[in-house]
Amino acid sequence: MKYNFDQVIDRTNTSALKYDRRQAVFEKSDVIPMWVADMDFETPEVIRNAVIQRANHPIYGYTFRDAGYFEAVMAWMQSHHDWTVRREEIVFTPGVVPAINFAVLAFTKPGDKIIVQPPVYPPISHAVPDQGRELVNNQLVQAENTYLIDFTLLEEQAKDAKMLILCNPHNPVGRCWNREELERIAQICLKHNVLVFSDEIHADLVMPGYRHLVFASLSPEVDNITVTAHAPSKTFNLAGLSTSSVIISNPALRESFAQVINHMHLGMGNLFGSVASTAAYVHGEPWRLQLIDYLDENITLAETYIKANITALHMYRPEGTYMIWLDFRKFGLDDKTLKSKMIHEAGLGFNPGTDFGPGGSGFMRMNIACPRSTVTTALGRLREMLSGIS
Ligand SMILES: Cc1ncc(COP(=O)(O)O)c(C=O)c1O
Repeated sequence: MKYNFDQVIDRTNTSALKYDRRQAVFEKSDVIPMWVADMDFETPEVIRNAVIQRANHPIYGYTFRDAGYFEAVMAWMQSHHDWTVRREEIVFTPGVVPAINFAVLAFTKPGDKIIVQPPVYPPISHAVPDQGRELVNNQLVQAENTYLIDFTLLEEQAKDAKMLILCNPHNPVGRCWNREELERIAQICLKHNVLVFSDEIHADLVMPGYRHLVFASLSPEVDNITVTAHAPSKTFNLAGLSTSSVIISNPALRESFAQVINHMHLGMGNLFGSVASTAAYVHGEPWRLQLIDYLDENITLAETYIKANITALHMYRPEGTYMIWLDFRKFGLDDKTLKSKMIHEAGLGFNPGTDFGPGGSGFMRMNIACPRSTVTTALGRLREMLSGIS
């Protein structure tokens, strides 16, 4: 193993949201933080070196993204997702969440209906009412060991909706939507003239045996109605650098989207974000491959442990993302009690399922992108806390 993911790194007092906001969020400063979606692994050295090298130049004035940045994005999409992207299709955004909000502003009007698929990453749903649009919940359907899309409901909802915000791979249920599912979504959206914002930020965190399929790559017709968000931030632990790309092949859509960003003067971006992203895409692959194996082993560890020791707890094994979606409903606790017990009895800082909208009650999300020793400790605390209940 070339990279040491077992290393425990002290992140306290680095203004790390996940660590230094624990008191504010959990009212307890020493919970094991397994909430915010970043990783407790060091950002790859090749990326840090590129940032340090640039930082050593003494002037941090205005910059632009050079040709190397765009070439790196294009080469990554081609090699990893079999997706040909042209330079002019790439629009910089200072994060995927901002991009979702820009898209809502660019492509819809106040009061328009926008479909999301909860339980889902909260900022996806929040963008809709935050920008004065109407939220339509196409709630995912729980199957035995997976989540599925309610296509009958989607078809009905699409009739008078303007946009669908797709999350693929899906956070928190961990699905990598397969070709058949994506084609059914596409068919419905094409038929009813619904634009698709495809949040693919977790596309490079897909577990062995699964594959990420870029929604826009299904066909030229689908490409024409799709806005795709992508970033190296989750994959390479760069979220603090606020750098992402939105890829839009339809020129009219691209122009509307770019106009929102330009009017807000948000297109400049972050000097170090560009440097780090380029280095990640060009040199980060060996690190990413080892990361995927480590995450997959953490997932297996959790699954095996829970099956053997906490039988009433149900874990949805993620196909992509480093999030584990846990169903606590057999313990019969209301959400408030569950949250309180998790914090005060187990000392664990997970995300309450209720944050993810309809379908989240009775669930919690656990972030396993941390050293194995942390996952082991957390699982032990979880078992201990739950042992007296079931
Ligand atoms: C599905 C999804 N989209 C977007 C984000 C955040 O994107 P950004 O930090 O680029 O705004 C996250 C972070 O957890 C996420 O899970």
